[in-house]
Amino acid sequence: MKKSFREVDLLAQVLYEVVERRRSLDATFKNVCRRMRVGSLEEREELYAKCRKLVSDYVKLRCVAGRGRLSYRRLARMWLAGVGELPAEPYCRLSVSRWLYDRLVNLLSAGEVEELLRSFEERLLWLRLNWLRAPEERVLRELETEGLEFEVHPKIPYMVRVLRSPKPLRFLRSVKEFRVIPQDLASAVCVEFMDLGPGDVVVDMCAAPGLKTSLIAMLEDSAKVMAFDVSAERVRRMKYLLRKAGVQDHRVQLIVADSRWVNLFHRVDRVLLDAPCSNSGSIGKNPAIKATLEAGDVASYSKQQLELLLKSVELSESIVYSTCSLLPEEGEEVVERALGVASLGVSIPPRFRGFCRSGYPQYGVSGSVCRLFPHTHSSEGFFIAKLEVK
Ligand SMILES: C[S@@+](CC[C@H](N)C(=O)[O-])C[C@H]1O[C@@H](n2cnc3c(N)ncnc32)[C@H](O)[C@@H]1O
Repeated sequence: MKKSFREVDLLAQVLYEVVERRRSLDATFKNVCRRMRVGSLEEREELYAKCRKLVSDYVKLRCVAGRGRLSYRRLARMWLAGVGELPAEPYCRLSVSRWLYDRLVNLLSAGEVEELLRSFEERLLWLRLNWLRAPEERVLRELETEGLEFEVHPKIPYMVRVLRSPKPLRFLRSVKEFRVIPQDLASAVCVEFMDLGPGDVVVDMCAAPGLKTSLIAMLEDSAKVMAFDVSAERVRRMKYLLRKAGVQDHRVQLIVADSRWVNLFHRVDRVLLDAPCSNSGSIGKNPAIKATLEAGDVASYSKQQLELLLKSVELSESIVYSTCSLLPEEGEEVVERALGVASLGVSIPPRFRGFCRSGYPQYGVSGSVCRLFPHTHSSEGFFIAKLEVK
């Protein structure tokens, strides 16, 4: 009795915070567990899986509840008892807001949208072997000894897909000591698109918390990075990550600033613009996005991305622009608008042709940009474009 009361309470609190306050699932879960003093690891893991599924089923629950304003506690109870009979609309069955479903079926077939949304239910986990901390072969042996089942990516051999882990990744020794870093495959593909060369000077426009910056530093040991981010708190986290990952301080200059207003004396060799976005490609990490993302959010990210991209064009002749978004408003449309203002070439690096999916066919740039999807690449949903100033 006591346990189930506590469970309903925790589920309801998590659901309330991710839906009403639009907080991320992971941070909310951590806070609620702290408040409710959930101690044991086993209990936490079990509750986390339930919270993730409950949040993912939120739109479904609302469809069943109809117009009634049910409390979050009632919704949690209803979910624990089994969702009940669903209305026939596909957006209810797939538990995604109606506008987002309608937008996606304009871009992909209904069958593929279903496959895409279902693929977010599985946690797709990747690790990056961090050779700044230890040689790759040694780390691979260590992962085996730690009981991990994994496969090495054929194109990017420092990326390892986790098939099964005896414990949550953050408890693996190799993760705690930064010999491997949890990082999605798509994130590595963005950096690979940059085609870094020795001694490159790089501007990372939106760098925190530093996963891609630290990969740049690992891949090209003579590259220097100017890493900008508007959030001082996130830059603090980046500083910690870079130190732990073994990136020497002098390799990366950390700057808290709004990159839209950055001016430099000289052009740099490369710019990475991994822009703030709707995160609709990261539904697997935060299923609340299926319910809380609004069309207005997308429009405002899109505008900001164009401003950042046009600034990037002033800073370098070689730019990689990426977003973890499924929507062309944060991808193809931004590139096409930039092409209308600046003289730019867009292309997929030869080694990624055939690996990338094209952009959405409605757009002229479709054949020159890259989309990654969880159901085809086992990665987050990402848009990546490489632009060269002509
Ligand atoms: C997608 S995240 C970047 C992730 C990072 N590249 C990584 O791989 O770890 C987007 C970042 O953009 C930052 N940001 C948002 N607007 C910005 C702006 N106008 N100028 C600079 N940074 C900005 C956010 O604070 C956030 O840290």
